[in-house]
Amino acid sequence: MAHPSINPLSETFGAEVIGLDLRQPITAEIIGLLNQALLDNVVLVIRNQDLTAQEFRDGMANFGEPMLQHRAHFRLPECPDVSRIVNRENMRPASMWHTDHTNHQRPPKATILYARKLPASGGDTCFANMYDGLENLSGGTRARIENMITINDMEPDSPSYSDQDRAAYDQGVRHPMVRTHPETGKKALYFHLTKAMGIEGMETRAVRPFLEGLLDQAIKPKNTLRHHWTLGDVVICDNRCAMHRADPNFDQAEERLLWRIILKGDRPV
Ligand SMILES: [Fe+2]
Repeated sequence: MAHPSINPLSETFGAEVIGLDLRQPITAEIIGLLNQALLDNVVLVIRNQDLTAQEFRDGMANFGEPMLQHRAHFRLPECPDVSRIVNRENMRPASMWHTDHTNHQRPPKATILYARKLPASGGDTCFANMYDGLENLSGGTRARIENMITINDMEPDSPSYSDQDRAAYDQGVRHPMVRTHPETGKKALYFHLTKAMGIEGMETRAVRPFLEGLLDQAIKPKNTLRHHWTLGDVVICDNRCAMHRADPNFDQAEERLLWRIILKGDRPV
């Protein structure tokens, strides 16, 4: 099996993978190379894939163990490890910076998106490198957040969660604001803007403005990457050191459908 080529997408992070067919068995050596490339680059774009849901799931299982996503309604019946991300059925593009599923004790280490239907223009997914995001904070802010704990729940105003989803997954989970990546050992800023409903020791009404202020300091053009989708792209994001958002700047009369897999992660520390 020929080695795929891995090319940087920017000066700071992100890489594209060319010459890999996720339908085919992948050697342990190449899986090792790809996993290292994800650790080094934070975001990987694997081009030109033509996959059924099961092939997508099985290909991604080379990177880790898929975990069930909390919106049961959007899981594919034929392959429940794959969920739909769509601007239909009470779901809207997640346009705020976040990392996925922080209302879980062990949030996913990676999110993987596969474009299925795209609007004629727009609908990009944007990524932010949060190792650099932490470095971008002022010394005073960094000292203030070093031991902060966020309290995470499902967004109370989102109609995309069913009562059953909330009963299973809405549990006020606590996570460190600064986490240490379990594989690279580096620290990153870690929170979900709309799921961090509280911060220990902070008045509730102060939380959202505080988090928005952190994003203003942390996320700069230099540590962001904009992915303009082409059908066939599979994008893997390391959730332990990156945030992402969907750009809602597209015609909502058009359907934008991505398939998503998330991979089991560690408890953040
Ligand atoms: Fe997300």
